[in-house]
Amino acid sequence: MLKLYAMFLSLVFLAELVAGISGFVFRHEIKDTFLRTYTDAIVHYDGMDEKSHAVDDVQQSLSCCGIQSYTNWSISTYFTNHGIPPSCCMNSSDCNSQDLQNMTVAATKVNQKKTCSIESELLVLENTTRRLR
Ligand SMILES: *[C@@H]1O[C@H](CO)[C@@H](O)[C@H](O)[C@H]1NC(C)=O
Ligand SMILES: *[C@@H]1O[C@H](CO)[C@@H](O)[C@H](O)[C@H]1NC(C)=O
Ligand SMILES: *[C@@H]1O[C@H](CO)[C@@H](O)[C@H](O)[C@H]1NC(C)=O
Ligand SMILES: *[C@@H]1O[C@H](CO)[C@@H](O)[C@H](O)[C@H]1NC(C)=O
Repeated sequence: MLKLYAMFLSLVFLAELVAGISGFVFRHEIKDTFLRTYTDAIVHYDGMDEKSHAVDDVQQSLSCCGIQSYTNWSISTYFTNHGIPPSCCMNSSDCNSQDLQNMTVAATKVNQKKTCSIESELLVLENTTRRLR
């Protein structure tokens, strides 16, 4: 029983190692795929479907907005009718839909410190890896 458990743990460890290494080897592919699907999700954003919720989650958890910039929302048909989604707001109690429909006003209301593209996180990882070697 204990042996089986040890074997299971080794397998999990191996799987994680492989996932980690291939993640690093294919990091550029991962980045490209992320940017492509994420951009597509923004273009077709409707605030309701699964992909839109995924975009909201990215924006909220990274405190970011758009792709590289909140102005990227202008490529979305959602922006024309509703403005930037509320998931971009710095302060949800000071961020109404009128603010979000005007790029000039929105600039003062949405998160802008970070890019939503995973590029920056990967660069930090690469830098750290280089320094640890
Ligand atoms: C997002 O906005 C930035 C800054 O305006 C621009 O450089 C970039 O090309 C835009 N990205 C896309 C995919 O539209
Ligand atoms: C958010 O906005 C409200 C209304 O303007 C304000 O009272 C509150 O202090 C703000 N919160 C933060 C964290 O800035
Ligand atoms: C956006 O808001 C600014 C400042 O309130 C205003 O001057 C400008 O006319 C607005 N733009 C649009 C397109 O409504
Ligand atoms: C990576 O390291 C270089 C210097 O080695 C530095 O100039 C650059 O800002 C770093 N980038 C990030 C994202 O930390």
